[in-house]
Amino acid sequence: MASIPPDLIEKIQSAGSVVVLTGSGVSAESGVPTFRDAQTGLWERYDPQELATPEAFERNPRLVWEWYSWRRELVGKAKPNPGHLALAELERMSGLFTLITQNVDGLHRAAGNENVIELHGNIRRSKCSEEGIVVEEPEESEDIPPRCPHCGASLRPDVVWFGEALPYEAFEAAVDAARNCDLFFSIGTSSLVYPAASLPYEALDSGAVLVEINPDETPLSARADFVLRGTAGEILPELVEALQEQ
Ligand code: OAD
Repeated sequence: MASIPPDLIEKIQSAGSVVVLTGSGVSAESGVPTFRDAQTGLWERYDPQELATPEAFERNPRLVWEWYSWRRELVGKAKPNPGHLALAELERMSGLFTLITQNVDGLHRAAGNENVIELHGNIRRSKCSEEGIVVEEPEESEDIPPRCPHCGASLRPDVVWFGEALPYEAFEAAVDAARNCDLFFSIGTSSLVYPAASLPYEALDSGAVLVEINPDETPLSARADFVLRGTAGEILPELVEALQEQ
């Protein structure tokens, strides 16, 4: 495999613990538009940064719910791509393996990854806007948004909105995995959105080897030990193939 450095293959084989952080670039080849590219058709005139906030939901819960219903439908049609499938294979081939994702589409689990930390929630789930109780499948109802079956308050998508804190336990587990890994992959993320973007630095500070997979340069590129320029759907299957050939 021309594009995968042999040194990297050796590092993967000798790593006791591997952590992968993914962003929306990994789902691009499944046809899930990235957050910022998602505005087409009916929703063209809305700015996601003004819909994905607690304030927007307070102002117009129906609008925000309908926008998420549209996004949920897009995600519902998407299938894992070769990059997702290669990451599931990498987990099967590795000892300790943690996949941390900023994506809310659930495609890593659908591909077969098991040890997955979702930092920004999951668009397929809803939760009570008052009490936070998770409701997997809201019942059919006339109300938009539907109501919480326990207290009657509005349901909202179980995702992290701009200005909200990350789920505490998920972030703690992610920091712990990053601090204790030998090899850290940052894949398909612009490395701009904190606190997720702090995780590779935690790994570097603990002595891990850092690998970036992204067609474009990011603020993290200069700190990476290996930079693989290309899409996740191209590079990851090559990487797994190179490992299997050893
Ligand atoms: P961004 O949209 O900021 O960045 C996507 C990254 O993926 C860019 O660096 C692209 O170069 C890269 N990319 C595009 N296509 C790719 C491909 N096929 N393979 C690999 N890489 C590719 O998305 P995120 O970094 O995920 O948060 O953004 C982080 C968070 O910002 C999101 O989770 C969302 C958003 O605000 C919340 O909603 C809380």
